[in-house]
Amino acid sequence: MNILVAGGVGFLGSNFCKLLLGKGHKVWALDNLITSSVSNLEAIKNDSNFSFLQVDVIKPDFIGQLSQVKFDAIYHLASPASPPWYQKYPIETLEVNSIGTKNLLELARRDGAKFIYASTSEVYGDPSVHPQPETYWGNVNSFGPRSCYDEAKRYGEAMCYTYLTKYNVDVRLVRIFNTYGPNMDPDDGRVVSNFVTQALRGNKMTIYGDGSQTRSFCYVDDLIRGFYLMMEKPVTGEIINLGNPGEFTMLELAQKVQTLLGKQLEIVHEPLPQDDPKQRRPDIGKAERLLGWKPEIDLDQGLAATIEYFSNKI
Ligand SMILES: NC(=O)c1ccc[n+]([C@@H]2O[C@H](COP(=O)([O-])OP(=O)(O)OC[C@H]3O[C@@H](n4cnc5c(N)ncnc54)[C@H](O)[C@@H]3O)[C@@H](O)[C@H]2O)c1
Repeated sequence: MNILVAGGVGFLGSNFCKLLLGKGHKVWALDNLITSSVSNLEAIKNDSNFSFLQVDVIKPDFIGQLSQVKFDAIYHLASPASPPWYQKYPIETLEVNSIGTKNLLELARRDGAKFIYASTSEVYGDPSVHPQPETYWGNVNSFGPRSCYDEAKRYGEAMCYTYLTKYNVDVRLVRIFNTYGPNMDPDDGRVVSNFVTQALRGNKMTIYGDGSQTRSFCYVDDLIRGFYLMMEKPVTGEIINLGNPGEFTMLELAQKVQTLLGKQLEIVHEPLPQDDPKQRRPDIGKAERLLGWKPEIDLDQGLAATIEYFSNKI
């Protein structure tokens, strides 16, 4: 099949392109490299089924560049994703999830392609329902430091809904919960990269607040297996949470990293960022039911692989 991955050079995108190529598909990665580097393509750049186009999906002219190809599936993963990145590029984040989503949906409409949108657990905001099922509408601040991301994704979801109902485009939405693993940017400011790089460098480990807030961490191989099933299974018009329901406090995560590295490091506490969710854990009942998917890699295994990747990188 011909598959387009917008944001294909990023952390999730590059891992997913590799999986698609391994299954024999032809893959086009589109990326403007705003938050990533082509070094992520090292393992796949010479694959004859792989093409990379450096384009900005906010600008619709990229569609003309693809007039010779008819796509079977389009994955929209293009967006700054970590708080430091989307706060550095707030307008770009709003635009890539609104205008960029519309442009890519137009391409899906042209080709009759399946369209898979990478939404996020951030649409649940600071949730008052725990764990979060897809039916929960969220508790989001529309006017704050996280709103450029959270509301952009909510708008992107609404755009998908509209293309489904107005133009019958085959949309499928994934709400991704914190995912980690090789090809993450060591300096992206996400908690796993922060802890691992701080520990590898022998620095103090930074915890925001008292460290009792929780997150659930999914290893990238599990996540992209779910991505693939989103295209294969009959889930048109469905929104599906993908994440690992194992829930850990930040203090527990910091301890795990130290244990795996055999290091004891000083922990420094910094103020909790505004609107930081206190807890996060996916309800994955729908993914189990509709995709037959659940994560297989536990946090210790996944962290060990991530530590190995970062040790070589930094
Ligand atoms: N990693 C996670 O834990 C997580 C959680 C929830 C949602 N997501 C979503 O999954 C997707 C991928 O996330 P990631 O972790 O791989 O982030 P990433 O920053 O590593 O990758 C995103 C990619 O999109 C590209 N991009 C951004 N704007 C673009 C534009 N206008 N045109 C073309 N390319 C553009 C970036 O250069 C980058 O390569 C994002 O949409 C993100 O919001 C990720």
